[in-house]
Amino acid sequence: MSSFKALRIHQADGGVTARVEDITLDDLSEGAVEIRSAWSGINFKDALAVTGAGKIARKFPLVAGIDVAGTVETSEDPRYKPGQPVLVTGWGMGETHDGGYAERTRVHGDWVVPLPDELDLRRAMLVGTAGFTAAMALVRMEQNGQRPEQGPVVVTGASGGVGSFATRLLSRAGYEVTAMTGKADAADYLRSLGAASILDPADVDYGKRPLEKAQWAGAVDALGGETLTWLTRTVKPFGNIAAIGLAQGTDLQTTVLPFILRGASLLGIDSVYCPVTLRLKIWERAAQLLRDEDFDTICHSELGLDDVPRACAELLDRRVRGRMLVRLSGEQ
Ligand SMILES: NC(=O)c1ccc[n+]([C@@H]2O[C@H](COP(=O)([O-])OP(=O)(O)OC[C@H]3O[C@@H](n4cnc5c(N)ncnc54)[C@H](OP(=O)(O)O)[C@@H]3O)[C@@H](O)[C@H]2O)c1
Repeated sequence: MSSFKALRIHQADGGVTARVEDITLDDLSEGAVEIRSAWSGINFKDALAVTGAGKIARKFPLVAGIDVAGTVETSEDPRYKPGQPVLVTGWGMGETHDGGYAERTRVHGDWVVPLPDELDLRRAMLVGTAGFTAAMALVRMEQNGQRPEQGPVVVTGASGGVGSFATRLLSRAGYEVTAMTGKADAADYLRSLGAASILDPADVDYGKRPLEKAQWAGAVDALGGETLTWLTRTVKPFGNIAAIGLAQGTDLQTTVLPFILRGASLLGIDSVYCPVTLRLKIWERAAQLLRDEDFDTICHSELGLDDVPRACAELLDRRVRGRMLVRLSGEQ
């Protein structure tokens, strides 16, 4: 049986260590669909898993990587044919099931998304979980009545993967976006993604009252903690807050007042186990909204498997803006 390269996480001295190794299909988690991997990307969760900064890996050794795009090599599932371009995000890949940082990936048939016509394999992984999650926020907000004419929507952690796509997708969908970023040099980048204004968290008065001056028609939050708390206090009547991330913290200290006096909605966003029908609808919306130039703007870099551990540390250090791609076969 021929071998291929994979970035695997091993348990070591109470922590984890990650290294590129040669493995075979027998080493991979079970699944009906074998994919010749072309591209993956680096998400916050991948960075936590590979560096060990978060307890993400739930089996050892584990091929890391929560995303993959490639072509079907073999399939016991009649829905997929060899040579078909596909993508997979979430479902526990890179957590409980061997993931996308390998030249071959094997997954269950229900996890597979046929590549949308508007995307190629590389672009699908530029979107990846980060962009898919941002698109999920937009779709869920609109399902709950969000419309551009209600006013500005704020995106937090705006220069990150989720934040970059949230800024781009919302502005392409006609929303006025305020991009909140702690990176002083990210303003031009975020304006090029359609942000109408830039907000520095250092200039924000987070307040203490259960309700502060209402400012935002809606919000997409990658941070949690104090930032999400502040969003609940400052969202306008009937505004939606999409709670995506925890980059700042997992606490949420608010009251019922935004919900019963302003009709605010806090929408939970779970990209991992998003149901299939909604998943396909979200990919379609993202693919239709994005333009050629958006992919170039959001692409931070293309890496090989060997570069991934270093890049994961940089991402957690907040030194990355946009999305980092991981080249496997590199097929488009
Ligand atoms: N719910 C889901 O299904 C789902 C899916 C994907 C991601 N997520 C979560 O969404 C968040 C963003 O993911 P990502 O892949 O976009 O990560 P990312 O590329 O690292 O972006 C995170 C951004 O948040 C800001 N940030 C990071 N650490 C911070 C801190 N300690 N305090 C304040 N701001 C901080 C930075 O933005 P600025 O420098 O611009 O301020 C950073 O670029 C993560 O918490 C991730 O776990 C959740």
